[in-house]
Amino acid sequence: MVIAQISDMHVLRAGSRLFGALDTFGLLARCVEHLNRLPTPPDAVLVTGDMTNDGEPADYEALAGLLDRLAMPYYPIPGNHDDREHTRRAFRHLGVLPATGPLHYAVEHLLVRLIALDTVVPGETHGHLGAEQLAWLEATLRAAPDRPTIVFLHHPPFPTGIEHMDAIRLDDADALRAVIARHAQVERVACGHLHRAIQVRWAGTVAVTAPGTAHQVALTLGPGDPARWIAEPPGALLHLWQEGVGVVTHVTYVGDHGGLQRFDQPHAIAS
Ligand SMILES: [Fe+2]
Repeated sequence: MVIAQISDMHVLRAGSRLFGALDTFGLLARCVEHLNRLPTPPDAVLVTGDMTNDGEPADYEALAGLLDRLAMPYYPIPGNHDDREHTRRAFRHLGVLPATGPLHYAVEHLLVRLIALDTVVPGETHGHLGAEQLAWLEATLRAAPDRPTIVFLHHPPFPTGIEHMDAIRLDDADALRAVIARHAQVERVACGHLHRAIQVRWAGTVAVTAPGTAHQVALTLGPGDPARWIAEPPGALLHLWQEGVGVVTHVTYVGDHGGLQRFDQPHAIAS
């Protein structure tokens, strides 16, 4: 089975452009189409936050309409650009978000168990889980120790080396690390926020961040490097579950990139 992960769509109502340049609504529409047409269609899609740029109700209306075009179920969590209550309202029809409080929940009916966490601190850009949510996570993981599990949250709990983003990561990462390290069934900790594909060994499992469906955060690994974005290709992660293997994570780039080519024939892509 395949679980796709999309992130950081920063959707604005159709016709508006982010930074005066990016049609984030149109870019997400292309991504939805891409996932629907994959040769092995995902069984579900994780949506790891910063779904809208401004958190306005009209943005969520546009967003939910677009995501409802996915041919498979999808599971959203908010990021620092999102509004928790507007998210709750926009996705009420999915039947997975709790009616009150943080938007954490578990999805039980797939081969891989999914656990969603809510790291939003209203008005702030960094993330925080808090003791209550961590206790919920501990109890939820303890309830099914033998089921392979993906835990997903917007803010990564590890420093990436991209300084300006590390300054706004999850601030209670050590507490999350202690919980995750106690539960060997966690196959992945899947995050957004970074607008790049990044992997690290963390808390006895593998933690990853997903590329954005619109703009990417520029790769700047030097101290004091300025924050920049770059129009590198939008993409998504595909977490492939194989019995006896575990989860293998791939990146798929939105678009057809000249189509499939045979290895034994001259390629048809114009140079
Ligand atoms: Fe973002």
